[in-house]
Amino acid sequence: MTLTLGVLASGSGSNFEAIGRAIERGELDAKIAVLVCNKEKAGVFARARDLGIPAVHVSHKHFESREAFEARICEVLAEHGVEWLVLAGFMRLVGATLLSAYPDRILNIHPALLPAFPGLHGARQALEAGVRETGCTVHLVDAGCDTGPRLAQALVPVEAGDDEASLTARIQRQEHRLYPLVLQWIAEGRLEARARRPGFPGLLPPTDDLVIFDGGEA
Ligand code: GRF
Repeated sequence: MTLTLGVLASGSGSNFEAIGRAIERGELDAKIAVLVCNKEKAGVFARARDLGIPAVHVSHKHFESREAFEARICEVLAEHGVEWLVLAGFMRLVGATLLSAYPDRILNIHPALLPAFPGLHGARQALEAGVRETGCTVHLVDAGCDTGPRLAQALVPVEAGDDEASLTARIQRQEHRLYPLVLQWIAEGRLEARARRPGFPGLLPPTDDLVIFDGGEA
């Protein structure tokens, strides 16, 4: 089943591009129908042009409430037939309007092994905590901040001499692999099949350097 995706972003958009390139290479059975970005000057717009993906600027500053902002985003997504919503560096909390329009169909990627280091600056938090290993997590979005059920994680070593930039770059290389992979699992119906069973949303399969959690309590 070809997934019709909408991507929400606020920044550089390297994850957006990684998903778009995976589609171009035939590794992901999906289409990005539209990019919605809340920052007018974000680098992600140039990437959308290169990929030939329609891009729409919707600024939260133009709306009086989160509900109104999200209602406008929902209109754009509906105009493009979006079925699954992919957050890729979207720097706003998701509220009830989007959550109820896409129940259990909003994904996010976070630069840490959740539940460790939620919120901003995942790589910086890992360095400050002195951990030897961190990673990234793809999870379903719920009303909390980085609290939704985890679908997949990739491990990333912290190396001697790492600073925030070097560690972030290493994490992002894994993000760019993991996000398209999880989306392809969804395209193959594996998430939905498992969602009907107890223990949702365990996903398979682990590969050499991926650790897959079952989405339950840690
Ligand atoms: C990624 O590191 C992701 O984990 C976090 O925001 C960052 C977005 O980067 N949610 P990019 O805009 O995809 O390059």
